[in-house]
Amino acid sequence: MTEYNAFLSPTGRHLHESAIRRMGTVVAKAPDLVSFAAGYPDPSLFPWDDFREIAAQLLTGADPTVLQYGPTRGYTPLLDATIDVLAGRGIKADLNELLITTGSQQGLDLVARVLVSPGDVVLVELPAYTGGISAFKNVQAHLVGVQQDDEGIDLDDLDAVLVRERGGGRKVNLLYLVPNFQNPTGRLLSLDKRHLLLEWAERRDVLIVEDDPYGALFFDDVATEEETRPIRADDARGRVIYLSTYSKTLAPGFRVGWMVAPAELADRFETAKQSIDLTSGVLDQRLVHEAIQRGLLETLAPRLRNLYKHKRDVMERSLREQLGTLLSWPSPKGGFFLWATLPPGEEDNALLLRALEKQLVFVIGSAFYVDGNGHDKIRLSFSAPTPERIPEGVRRLAAALTST
Ligand SMILES: Cc1ncc(COP(=O)(O)O)c(C=O)c1O
Repeated sequence: MTEYNAFLSPTGRHLHESAIRRMGTVVAKAPDLVSFAAGYPDPSLFPWDDFREIAAQLLTGADPTVLQYGPTRGYTPLLDATIDVLAGRGIKADLNELLITTGSQQGLDLVARVLVSPGDVVLVELPAYTGGISAFKNVQAHLVGVQQDDEGIDLDDLDAVLVRERGGGRKVNLLYLVPNFQNPTGRLLSLDKRHLLLEWAERRDVLIVEDDPYGALFFDDVATEEETRPIRADDARGRVIYLSTYSKTLAPGFRVGWMVAPAELADRFETAKQSIDLTSGVLDQRLVHEAIQRGLLETLAPRLRNLYKHKRDVMERSLREQLGTLLSWPSPKGGFFLWATLPPGEEDNALLLRALEKQLVFVIGSAFYVDGNGHDKIRLSFSAPTPERIPEGVRRLAAALTST
């Protein structure tokens, strides 16, 4: 048999697999499984009827550009519509600062390719989104974690880590963070910290990569829209690269996201994207654009917020009823995730193995830590399972926790 290792490039050898994607394979194989693993949106609110009509209109053949190659920057009417979406979030962006991406995951990959050299430090939260970790690890970044408190990233630790790393002779240019309902903790970064981060980035000459897929999904009993104001909205000096997506507000199957960056960098990202996919799926972009034109973002957003809030409530209630005080967690103020601390002596990998025997899957906490910690945590996603299945999953979790 051919030995392929010798064929691999340094990048090929260092590729970093996503723990969450791996879980996805498990889920696909076991139909009775309850999955609290992947952060998938609830498909019951995908606007099927609208998309069926839109697709039928687009695919009559009257407009040949629907199935043609398109510009790398993105379909111009979608770029214009996205500028309006951004304005609704307080962000004033020009066309030359905007790029449609194949999901915001591609935005992360572009940032990593264009801005990070092997050995560069990228600062990430402890814990951090695994897809961000993978994108930066794949370009052989040296990932260094920064502590968080209840209000998000710890600014004292952030500065101390930066000073330490630069003192050790390393290049530190980037901070990656998810300020709104962070994946995996569900935390919301306070407005104070957002302002202080901008000052810090300017003072320390760092760029902030702000990844914001969940901002629209705040729960109105504990969070307000104002509290989700992106850092980029107050960025007067071009310190922020802002990534977002239509995955969580329309549907992730379209793979349509976007990035906003200072024009000079946006040009670089566009050039890098040319060799990856030439353009994000043209039909996908057209479908998303028509959906926005129909006002679907506005009509869906309150329904999505209510549905996920309800699911959070169901999960929290089930956890309290079935597990008492065995687990503790900060109550999610939005988004898809509940971040639970395990009882003393319990370990995430061992618990997952016992849970799998009971047909339950979640993501181990340590997958989100770049410093080897997190074995006392698990991420429970309440977004995809139905409200009826959530208590069943929690029952299985209770059984796994109490079996040895
Ligand atoms: C924090 C974060 N960033 C990026 C992504 C990728 O989203 P997209 O579907 O837009 O690629 C996700 C998806 O779960 C996410 O949680």
